[in-house]
Amino acid sequence: MIHLSYDRKKYQEDMINNVKLMDNVVEIGCHIGTSTKIISRLNQDGTVYAFDNSPESVEAMNNLGIEYANIKFFNADVRNEEVLYDFAEKYGKIDVLCVDLGGGYHPDTVFKVFFIWSSVLKPRVSLIRNRGLIDFINSSISSENIKSEGGYLESSADNILPKNLKELKRWSDKL
Ligand SMILES: C[S@@+](CC[C@H](N)C(=O)[O-])C[C@H]1O[C@@H](n2cnc3c(N)ncnc32)[C@H](O)[C@@H]1O
Repeated sequence: MIHLSYDRKKYQEDMINNVKLMDNVVEIGCHIGTSTKIISRLNQDGTVYAFDNSPESVEAMNNLGIEYANIKFFNADVRNEEVLYDFAEKYGKIDVLCVDLGGGYHPDTVFKVFFIWSSVLKPRVSLIRNRGLIDFINSSISSENIKSEGGYLESSADNILPKNLKELKRWSDKL
């Protein structure tokens, strides 16, 4: 299932309703760890892999990692393909993907990050915080019944092969 929210409280409610004790969770856009702490208490027998590229996150998240043994922080830009490849290779199975690049942040970038990370990691559930995506969903209608049960788009996820992630490559700092 894929849950969308804009209000941060609803994003955190989605965490409370969906994260289980043994889940391994990827949290994209952890900032200084306000929601990371909530996840960390929910999945005490799993790990929270928290990502943020902001320099502000470093000290706060490193301190949080000392206090909460199941938080692992990555100071990285999630648009870089190496970040996803390295992570997927090392840590494998992920149950929940959380994406919050800023609630009002570009929905196109948020969708692309969600689509590529979820297609590779295939989580059971994805939780996304973004206003534009909710607006798009609530303002759209289709007569075709294409729908996914998991936390990724089943109709197209298998077309994403890590070697062919040209979309992500376009954002790479190297290009
Ligand atoms: C609104 S804050 C997240 C708040 C946090 N989820 C919470 O509940 O407290 C958005 C975060 O996304 C991070 N971010 C934006 N673009 C990013 C990117 N390309 N890679 C990694 N982090 C990014 C920002 O640095 C910022 O800390």
